[in-house]
Amino acid sequence: MSKHILIIGGSGMLKELALTLNKEGNEVTVVARNKSKLKSLHDQAPQPELLNTYSSDYTVEDTFIEDILHILKQKPVSKVVAWFHKEGYATLQKMCDEVGQKQENWELVHVKGSRAARPSENFIPSTNNTCSYQEVILGYVRAEQRWLTHHEISRGVYNAMKQNHQTYIVGQVDS
Ligand SMILES: NC(=O)c1ccc[n+]([C@@H]2O[C@H](COP(=O)([O-])OP(=O)(O)OC[C@H]3O[C@@H](n4cnc5c(N)ncnc54)[C@H](OP(=O)(O)O)[C@@H]3O)[C@@H](O)[C@H]2O)c1
Repeated sequence: MSKHILIIGGSGMLKELALTLNKEGNEVTVVARNKSKLKSLHDQAPQPELLNTYSSDYTVEDTFIEDILHILKQKPVSKVVAWFHKEGYATLQKMCDEVGQKQENWELVHVKGSRAARPSENFIPSTNNTCSYQEVILGYVRAEQRWLTHHEISRGVYNAMKQNHQTYIVGQVDS
């Protein structure tokens, strides 16, 4: 059955993930700020009628939450893929609170940078029992001493979503 998947920050390194999920027949809504990047993403969609884009800034908490609630009203979401920088963590928490109140079952796939491998730097939002939480930590390619490419990041998050491990590491991390 096709799902509605919301991807916050899905117009950059997670663009390929958005397009892959759309190609599989899922309805995908991508939220980011830059409208021309969002339009370019839409133009590349294999199933454009199932790819929605929404311009919103997660550092403007109230407006962002209103926008998320508007999206949920159009169609409930089964998964939220969240790529937030630190300045958006308070909004991410608020979003979890609001979605948790509105929906009975949803999954949060929280994408994080390498620092999250250190427990003291790992932000885990609190969620209620409506939410199944998964964190995906982006590491590096140790053998080649380099960061992950966008393709490896999108592919890694896609694989994580298929496996349902509570913590999934793409590449390697130093703890
Ligand atoms: N291994 C690691 O630990 C690791 C971790 C992270 C990143 N990286 C690398 O670092 C590079 C840069 O990272 P990046 O964060 O710039 O990745 P990115 O995914 O290329 O860009 C961030 C995404 O979030 C959106 N975004 C940013 N600020 C936002 C806001 N305030 N409100 C709503 N949406 C917002 C961006 O779109 P808009 O700008 O249009 O809003 C975009 O879709 C990546 O290309 C990746 O290769 C490595």
